[in-house]
Amino acid sequence: MARRRQLYEGKAKILFEGPEPGSIVQYFKDDATAGNGAKKGIITGKGVLNNRISEHLMLRLQAIGIPTHFMKRINMREQLVREVEIIPLEIVVRNVAAGSIASRLGLEEGTRLPRTIIEYYLKNDALNDPMVSEEHIAAFEWATPQDMEEINSHALRINDFLCGTFQAIGIQLVDFKLEFGRLWEQDEMRVVLADEISPDNCRLWDMNTSEKLDKDRFRRDLGRVEEAYQEVARRLGILPES
Ligand code: C5P
Repeated sequence: MARRRQLYEGKAKILFEGPEPGSIVQYFKDDATAGNGAKKGIITGKGVLNNRISEHLMLRLQAIGIPTHFMKRINMREQLVREVEIIPLEIVVRNVAAGSIASRLGLEEGTRLPRTIIEYYLKNDALNDPMVSEEHIAAFEWATPQDMEEINSHALRINDFLCGTFQAIGIQLVDFKLEFGRLWEQDEMRVVLADEISPDNCRLWDMNTSEKLDKDRFRRDLGRVEEAYQEVARRLGILPES
């Protein structure tokens, strides 16, 4: 097979040109970074697990009417997705205080927030992804008010759905990060969920033991990182690839 053209290499994924126009192959690496690349490592098997976990969650979100870029999983480490124009924002949804909101506002980790909070960060490695407000987003035209309406409404529905999905398997969804893209179909533009949903970009705590089942195990050197990702996959009913 001819070698595919690489379009982009990120910290955890590589994007290749897809087999048909408007499609992209998303390859999941085992590489892990934290602190915007300050800490680097390998989590053996992470790419395979995140490919399956993200496929599973994207398909379930599609089934409840959330538009996503996901088309199909191709193999252990690759999935085919629609080519979208990525909106340069990271959307963080929080239910419980942890990580940066806990340190920024002096909250104890694990405190339930008075309500779900959505935060926006500009995707810019050189600036360490600074937090921005809807005012900044509108003024600098990173997204239109209509994009933001769709993003906010999708983000809250995704949160409701994922909270329920994880709760049913004994996991508390503390917070997570989403990315969205614009997709044109017959001159119509839609905002669709892009990137991935996996323990790399969610905080997932066991509801009984409070054990962390996500990338904080890598960020905070807690050990048993791969086992945590495997546990999430196992509870979601994703069996090992035969
Ligand atoms: O670090 P912080 O508390 O702001 O992270 C909030 C959530 O967003 C966490 O679930 C984290 O995994 C995710 N996140 C991410 N990529 C980033 C920053 C945060 O997936 N660049």
